Amino acid sequence: MAQHSSPRTPLRYAVVGTGMMGLEHIHALGSLPDTEVVALCDPHATSLRRAKDALVDGGHPIAEYATVEDLVAGGGFDVAVVSSPNFTHRAVVEPLLEHGSHLLIEKPLGITARECREIIALEKETSTVHAARVVWVGLEYRYMAPTMRLLDHVGSGSLGNLRMLAIREHRFPFLVKVGDWNRFSANTGGTLVEKCCHFFDLMRLVLQSEPNRVFASGAQDVNHLDEIYEGRTPDILDNAFVIVDFDNGARASLDLCMFAEATKNEQEISVVGDLGKAEALVTEGVVRLGLRSKGWFQCEEEIVSVDDVPTSLLAHGAHHGSSWRQHRAMQAAIRNGSRAAVTTFDGLMSVAMGEAAHRSISLGRPVSMGEILD
Ligand SMILES: NC(=O)c1ccc[n+]([C@@H]2O[C@H](COP(=O)([O-])OP(=O)(O)OC[C@H]3O[C@@H](n4cnc5c(N)ncnc54)[C@H](O)[C@@H]3O)[C@@H](O)[C@H]2O)c1
Repeated sequence: MAQHSSPRTPLRYAVVGTGMMGLEHIHALGSLPDTEVVALCDPHATSLRRAKDALVDGGHPIAEYATVEDLVAGGGFDVAVVSSPNFTHRAVVEPLLEHGSHLLIEKPLGITARECREIIALEKETSTVHAARVVWVGLEYRYMAPTMRLLDHVGSGSLGNLRMLAIREHRFPFLVKVGDWNRFSANTGGTLVEKCCHFFDLMRLVLQSEPNRVFASGAQDVNHLDEIYEGRTPDILDNAFVIVDFDNGARASLDLCMFAEATKNEQEISVVGDLGKAEALVTEGVVRLGLRSKGWFQCEEEIVSVDDVPTSLLAHGAHHGSSWRQHRAMQAAIRNGSRAAVTTFDGLMSVAMGEAAHRSISLGRPVSMGEILD
């Protein structure tokens, strides 16, 4: 692991689920000071071997486990990262919450709002014994550099009273996963939970309000229709429009297309208040700020720097350094004894909004958040 000269006690990590995202966490952790990955847990031998190969040799032994129960019994770690498939989060998280280590749980927190609430109940129950523990949900799009800059503009108040937020994600189809778990909604929660929980989280964060109603239209029109797994064709939606009404009167929309990789930006986020508009373009890293007081068709444009992230991580390509920034923020919370910035409640709400959108599509009508949460 990373060499460090500071006298701080290293934080010892266990990574549970060492597939694509587990590897991204291992790379990110390897670039942080006072950080050691000491245990790996995955039932799939190939995933375990790849993860072990990706570790920088820090001179300490690495324990390997096939089950989370064995990992917990082995102990010896301070923080666990849960990056196993969505449908396993509920079962994997339970022994870890009882164990009491700090936890980073990948998004989505669970595959339904009900699962998320069960996790929250367990968190509360075990908090009496493990009060200082940080439980953080991996909604890391908050930590994309252009999005952070957009949030700065929102926070400055220069846009005035925020009224509209539009998020467009136009991207490539879902990648191949270990055991093809992501091909079926029963394993993922459905695309609007699995993928779009990130965007529903950003909506709440930008608008600083809670959603009350969701209306959506979507379908699986193009992707994975020629694939068959044990006699079944995948059932995952690949395009949708979602409209969300918020308690403060603001409205947000999501435009998702997963056969639109022939474009420049994966995400385009635009937020408009009564005084102006800000936009963030992720992949180009462009952020624009336009104030109505300065006239029509005027805006400042900047390319947002990613210099804070070690270059070696950007070479790994994924998520523009946001995993690394997320870990850095979580480590600060652990070391300062402060609360998680991204809580299990945030995890619940981002899943519940996705669930409401799926229900709206199947019922063909708007769905109130109360129908999902009550
Ligand atoms: N934050 C993000 O932007 C982001 C991006 C991609 C994936 N993810 C999330 O990360 C998680 C993993 O996704 P992935 O893309 O790495 O999938 P993956 O298929 O590449 O890896 C999952 C790994 O978990 C292992 N696994 C299965 N059951 C397990 C269990 N009970 N205990 C421990 N390990 C188990 C599998 O063998 C596999 O190696 C998912 O929840 C996914 O939604 C988050």
